[in-house]
Amino acid sequence: MSISPLKCCINPSILSADFVNLETELARIADADAVHVDVMDNRFVPNLTIGLPVVERMQKVSPVPLDVHLMIADVDLWAPSYADARVDSVTFHVEASDAPIKLARELRARGTKAGMALRPATPVEPYLDMLPELDMLLIMTVEPGFGGQSFLDIVLPKIRRARAAVEGSGVDVAIQVDGGITEETITRAAEAGANVFVAGSAVYGRPSPADAIESLRAKGQLAFATTTLHPNNTPPQA
Ligand code: DX5
Ligand code: ZN
Repeated sequence: MSISPLKCCINPSILSADFVNLETELARIADADAVHVDVMDNRFVPNLTIGLPVVERMQKVSPVPLDVHLMIADVDLWAPSYADARVDSVTFHVEASDAPIKLARELRARGTKAGMALRPATPVEPYLDMLPELDMLLIMTVEPGFGGQSFLDIVLPKIRRARAAVEGSGVDVAIQVDGGITEETITRAAEAGANVFVAGSAVYGRPSPADAIESLRAKGQLAFATTTLHPNNTPPQA
């Protein structure tokens, strides 16, 4: 079984950007791996952001791929339309889906990567058999709904168990973390096994989003290089 080295991705969250100037805000993160787009409906979470028309327009002007995070009810109904917008990935919350396997397959059939998200208190174990159906598992490190919250360390063991399951299954599933990722917490999340990092305030809240992305990426990569969790991550020679 060959396992590729973990790729560290920094996906800034548009939730912390200026919603009146989205095109300019996207240009400021042109060095990111993707832009994380938080869609909220004021039902699944107590907040409201943007919907499909804005996402379709962002897809047309963005210099980086769109990583869409749907925090919406009735997600089985709505998620396929986001895939049709030709974004790179669509992530739905398992708590909002009646038929997550069917939905993941539908997203892939429409040419989009399928992501599945877990709220902090949702266990990963019931869904491990679903890993081959997914391109990404999003483990929330805050309660979804708002930017600028503190990272929940209580979620770290779940990230470790998810990483062990991914490595054990041999499938290529990215593990994304979202919420409270900073230059301090990214190291703990990466050491636990996450490899895709969403950062809102830690990127857009800084004078230079480009510098913030570079610095977060360096911290994430260093954590991978020093952890023995992943078979291909050998500690640096002294
Ligand atoms: C929260 C959103 C996050 C949020 C992260 O529900 O899903 O993507 O923007 O913001 P920070 O990085 O500020 O915690
Ligand atoms: Zn998000």
